Amino acid sequence: MQIEARNISFQYRENTPWILKDVSLKIEEGERVGLVGPSGYGKSTLVKILAGYLKPTKGEVLLDGKPLPKKGVSPVQLIYQHPEKAINPRWKMKKVLQESGMFRDEVMDALGIERDWLERYPRELSGGELQRFCVARSLFEGTHFLFADEMSTMLDVITQAQIWNLMLKEVEERRLGLLMVTHNAYLAEKICARTIRLEEINTREE
Ligand SMILES: Nc1ncnc2c1ncn2[C@@H]1O[C@H](COP(=O)(O)OP(=O)(O)O)[C@@H](O)[C@H]1O
Ligand SMILES: [Mg+2]
Repeated sequence: MQIEARNISFQYRENTPWILKDVSLKIEEGERVGLVGPSGYGKSTLVKILAGYLKPTKGEVLLDGKPLPKKGVSPVQLIYQHPEKAINPRWKMKKVLQESGMFRDEVMDALGIERDWLERYPRELSGGELQRFCVARSLFEGTHFLFADEMSTMLDVITQAQIWNLMLKEVEERRLGLLMVTHNAYLAEKICARTIRLEEINTREE
């Protein structure tokens, strides 16, 4: 599989500045790509568009040449920068995992998910704890592409390492495509085969 952004331009509302202008990129399954760029430059906006959460104002996102599927759990999974915004506040964590069929003990153990957290609501967990559920959920069996948006910013170093170890194992074994948005050039260098600088592909005017 391949995901492609073709000439994406985006503004949040009419008559407001263009956040993205004519951005194109391609990621193949099995590829590990970093996305870096200054804060406020549109990285999160771009990954939301790529995952189908925001509709581009112009241009299109294609999965193997076709529009993203509208039904079912998406083969393109996004792990948000802010996990509390990604989880239904009225669902117990058990239901969050059930929705994607992700009850693999191996994954829960590797992510350090305590079994009694399953009976809790999102507000009863810390940001780091919630983020582990977002990662677990994103690894469901139909996933082909994984986008991680500055996932590590709210995690301590040990938890970060634990989560990345599991994600990279899954990426490797299942040949997932990975796009990681990060400020951490060292992490990007270590994990990714190539890095995209948003300043270089986004032609918006300042
Ligand atoms: N929901 C929104 N409505 C209007 N503007 C937004 C919204 N979300 C982000 N922005 C603006 O879009 C720009 C790009 O934001 P973002 O994609 O979050 O950048 P980055 O992830 O690179 O820091 C910023 O100027 C931000 O203020
Ligand atoms: Mg961001």
